[in-house]
Amino acid sequence: MVPEPVKRTVAKAVIPAAGLGTRFLPATKAMPKEMLPIVDKPAIQYVVEEAVAAGLHDVLIITGRNKGNLSNHFDGVPELELTLERKGDEERLERVHEASELAEVHFLRQGQPLGLGHAVGRARMHVGDESFAVLLGDDLIDVRDPLLDRMIEVHDSRQATVVALMEVPPEAVHLYGCAATAATDEADVVRITGLVEKPAPEEAPSNLAVIGRYVLRPEIFGVIDRLEPGRGGEYQLTDALNVLASGGGEAPVFGVIFRGRRYDTGDRADWIKANLLLGVDHEELGPELRSWVIDFADRLRADDAARRAGRD
Ligand code: G1P
Repeated sequence: MVPEPVKRTVAKAVIPAAGLGTRFLPATKAMPKEMLPIVDKPAIQYVVEEAVAAGLHDVLIITGRNKGNLSNHFDGVPELELTLERKGDEERLERVHEASELAEVHFLRQGQPLGLGHAVGRARMHVGDESFAVLLGDDLIDVRDPLLDRMIEVHDSRQATVVALMEVPPEAVHLYGCAATAATDEADVVRITGLVEKPAPEEAPSNLAVIGRYVLRPEIFGVIDRLEPGRGGEYQLTDALNVLASGGGEAPVFGVIFRGRRYDTGDRADWIKANLLLGVDHEELGPELRSWVIDFADRLRADDAARRAGRD
């Protein structure tokens, strides 16, 4: 007998991309941080590709001011396409088409920059009464380490909200939402009992940080509606999730612990690292970059040794 096709319970992805990108100024003065290239594609394209790889073909990007070129990127460019066609440059034409044919991409302006909780709340009309995934535009998860699929699996099996967590050094906890957790019968899954947005080190319940992937059930919208402004005077998604997590188990929240490669492309050093890490494995550029990086590391080592010898 042919098995019934597995019905996906999550079909839509929401990508909040309305942040101001202040950590990356002046590069982000006139360009959204999500358009910064990683090797040869803007960061946002990797995020949309990740959603599509997890079976989510309906993507809503929540944008802010200054984000016009984000929507241009997922649109056709007739004059460029015509020029490439005339030249017979199939390969580049293919690359131009990639982004516009990737998914059904929708856009919505956030209206006011009132925080991540508010941005997600804006997706309500589009999402309706369904579970949906949220992918933050400047968190890049390496495609070689799939995370979203596992989160959707846990959402389906436990019929619950799921958040991605990652162990971070204690001194970095204040940059993230941070989770108090209890073990479950699955090694990579924890039950979340509380969440705090960007706690001071002494207030952090653990070193498990929320990274920018969430599978949310539609009840989150009602919670967002009732939210008070939180950290930084903004409506925080972490606070909405904390209401569910600490709410006595009616709408439990689980965490999937991610141990793969993640890059925060809104952070300058991480952005450079992401370019190198993905660059050395790039089909076309990899071999050249790899031998250059090895030579460069040798040079740096020699420099450091000479400097140390000079000090002795
Ligand atoms: C947001 C969330 C935070 C989360 C982080 C992950 O913060 O508010 O809970 O840990 O993303 O990248 P942001 O980095 O946008 O300040």
